[in-house]
Amino acid sequence: MTIDKPVPTTEQPEPAPEPSTAAPPTGEEWRHHFRDRMKDQLGLRGVVSEYLIPVETNTIWYTLGGVLAISLVLEILTGMALSMRYIPDAG
Ligand code: HEM
Repeated sequence: MTIDKPVPTTEQPEPAPEPSTAAPPTGEEWRHHFRDRMKDQLGLRGVVSEYLIPVETNTIWYTLGGVLAISLVLEILTGMALSMRYIPDAG
């Protein structure tokens, strides 16, 4: 029985890849990267823009929850603005 010896080759091992000299993104590019990363990580695309609503809920009545939600946000915002100015005076 013979033991195979490694065949000597003239091939050089692959040189290690050069470390990237590209500067990390900054400014607008960085913001876009960050936004895309957040959307991916939180799955926002699936929840917001790619979410398919059941066809039987595509009626005016099912908008009412959203209308309530918008009203609540408006009430909180206008309430905060009012509280900065309003001085109650019963007399
Ligand atoms: C500020 C108060 C509320 C907000 C912002 C709100 C918001 C929403 C939203 C956005 C939806 C999904 C879309 C739609 O069906 O319109 C929903 C669904 C629903 N809400 Fe509300 N809601 C509120 C109060 C209530 C109250 C007080 C009840 C019951 C006493 C209620 C019961 C329901 C039910 C049962 C659904 C599911 C409807 C369905 O899919 O068939 N909600 N709500």
